[in-house]
Amino acid sequence: MAQKMLVTGGCGFIGSNFVRHILANNDRYEIVNLDTLTYAGNLENLRDVENHPRYTFVKGDICDEDLVNRLLADGADVIVNFAAESHVDRSITDPGVFVRVNVLGTQTLLAAAKEHGVPRFVQISTDEVYGSLGPEGLFTEETPLQPNSPYSAAKAGADLLVRAYHQTYGFPGLITRCSNNYGPYQFPEKLIPLFISNALEDKPLPLYGDGMNVRDWIYVDDHCRGIEAVVEKGRPGEVYNIGGNNELANVTITKEILKQLGKPESLITFVKDRPGHDRRYAIDSTKIQTELGWQPTVSLADGMARTVQWYQDHREWWERIKSGEYMEYYDRHYCQAHGLKE
Ligand code: NAD
Ligand code: TYD
Repeated sequence: MAQKMLVTGGCGFIGSNFVRHILANNDRYEIVNLDTLTYAGNLENLRDVENHPRYTFVKGDICDEDLVNRLLADGADVIVNFAAESHVDRSITDPGVFVRVNVLGTQTLLAAAKEHGVPRFVQISTDEVYGSLGPEGLFTEETPLQPNSPYSAAKAGADLLVRAYHQTYGFPGLITRCSNNYGPYQFPEKLIPLFISNALEDKPLPLYGDGMNVRDWIYVDDHCRGIEAVVEKGRPGEVYNIGGNNELANVTITKEILKQLGKPESLITFVKDRPGHDRRYAIDSTKIQTELGWQPTVSLADGMARTVQWYQDHREWWERIKSGEYMEYYDRHYCQAHGLKE
């Protein structure tokens, strides 16, 4: 019999890629996707699998204790928690919602999972909890947590709760910390989809500061396979770093996007830097490679070519987001199809 996996935040960028990956490649799981559909949650991201026999969508908030308890009363073999507020710039203008969702939401899930004896809980975290690196060195799982933005501070708070549940109650929590993802279905507020879509519209690409901040880019499918390995083989209480081994300065990746699209570098506009802007992230993923046999498989050249092509081919998807029309999909299509009140 299939195992029941509760995925939270499955209508966002990584969550939707993960749900699609599991449904296509791993028939051991049936998935319940709990997502409250914030601005970043888009039902259109999973339109192609919405009637899949091993998939159910539930609209709801991970902070809703009654709902989470009701869902877990039916039993769950594993929870994979993607649900979060995820954009650093938004966390600078509105930190409160990041604490509510990322910290209190995770605590609500942990408490309910403990109550119902859920045997596995995978927290999807980020390398940003480690803070910023100088020109040398890599983040390992032992690097102290030094988050610099309200986003990463709230993610670190959630990580510490998962750790504390393991230490205090023997709760079977695991944590993944991944570097910057890119690929299909990423909301066009993040660097790569914002710059591809702006370039396609001949709009300026706003590069923060001197453009020399470095991120370690990973294609989203590689991240999804890493999470799957942790779900299936990771050791409870452990942290697993996941990284792409692709360090690049923002200005370099920006020029690459323009080159692939045949657009002029004059679209680059240097703007005021992000406050508290982390200079460099880079991941040492030796642990997951040696312990769980995972490796990144998509080169940056291949991943960027696929990504640029996807945004060219799915112009309607990102145009509907930029215009706000995508939010009507739930109201019009999903509620009608399920006999719900809009
Ligand atoms: P995203 O913003 O695209 O998606 C977040 C999803 O969570 C959305 O579908 C949203 O509707 C849902 N959500 C938000 N609040 C919720 C709530 N209260 N209850 C239920 N659902 C809620 O984010 P993403 O980029 O897909 O990131 C997913 C996870 O991976 C996050 O936890 C993030 O911290 C982590 N992560 C992201 C990256 C990256 O590069 N994007 C890298 C490492 C880790
Ligand atoms: P982002 O995609 O927001 O991810 P994160 O801040 O979580 O790493 O940003 C990636 C890098 O790109 C980061 O150094 C900030 C920079 N950036 C810009 O220069 N301009 C932009 O408009 C955005 C959104 C990001």
